[in-house]
Amino acid sequence: MGNVSNPEPDAHPSKDTQEEGNKVSSFNANDASEDPGLALDTAEKPVYAFAGETPDWYTWRGYKKYGANCLQCHGPDGMGSSFAPDLTQSLQNIDYFEFAGIIVGGQQNKWNTSGNSIMPAWGEDPNVMCSLNAIYTYLRGRADGVVGRGEPGRPEQSDKSKAAKDYEYSCLGF
Ligand code: HEC
Repeated sequence: MGNVSNPEPDAHPSKDTQEEGNKVSSFNANDASEDPGLALDTAEKPVYAFAGETPDWYTWRGYKKYGANCLQCHGPDGMGSSFAPDLTQSLQNIDYFEFAGIIVGGQQNKWNTSGNSIMPAWGEDPNVMCSLNAIYTYLRGRADGVVGRGEPGRPEQSDKSKAAKDYEYSCLGF
C-alpha cells in the first residue's frame, strides 16, 4: 500500500466506516475502465487514501465537485443548510450504495416532510455522475472527521492523479 495511511476516524463516522473501518484494502487498477487508482476499503467501497496530511486526488477532486454541484443547497463543507441536510450526519446512516442511489434518483420529502423538500436526480448529469466516487470519498472523509473544513491539501501530480484526471475528462466527453 506504499505510504498510504488513513487517520483514525472520529467516534461517529460514516456508516461504511462503522461497518468496515477506513483502511485502504486495494486500489482500482490503473488501466481500469472506471476511476483508475480509486482507493477501496475491505468491502470494496470507495474510501479516501491519505499520504501524511494529504488525501488522494479523488478526495481533493470531490471537494471541488461538491462545491460546484452540491454546496449551493447542502452548505459549505457538507454541513447542511436550512433547506438541505448536513451530509456529514446523513452519511452516518446511509452507506455508499444508498448514497449513490439517492444521487442518481433524487429524494423527496424524506428528510423534511413539510412537502416541498426536493433533492434533484443527477443520473443524467455527467458533471455529477463522472465524479460520484470522488464526491463520496470527500464526504466520507468529512463524516469520519479526517477531512477538515475548507479545501483539502492537493496531492502532488503523479501518474496516478493523471490517470484519474484523464478518466474524468473522457467520461465528460472531452
Ligand atoms: C437544489 C438543492 C440541492 C442540490 C443542488 C443538492 N441537494 Fe442533496 N438534498 C436536497 C434536499 C432538499 C434534500 C432532502 C430531501 C428530503 O427531504 O428527502 C437532499 C438530500 C440529499 C441526500 C439524502 C440525505 C438524507 O439524510 O436524507 C443526499 C445523500 C444528498 N442530498 C446528496 C447531495 C449531493 C452529493 C449533491 C451534489 C451532487 C446534492 N445533494 C445536491 C437538496 C439538494
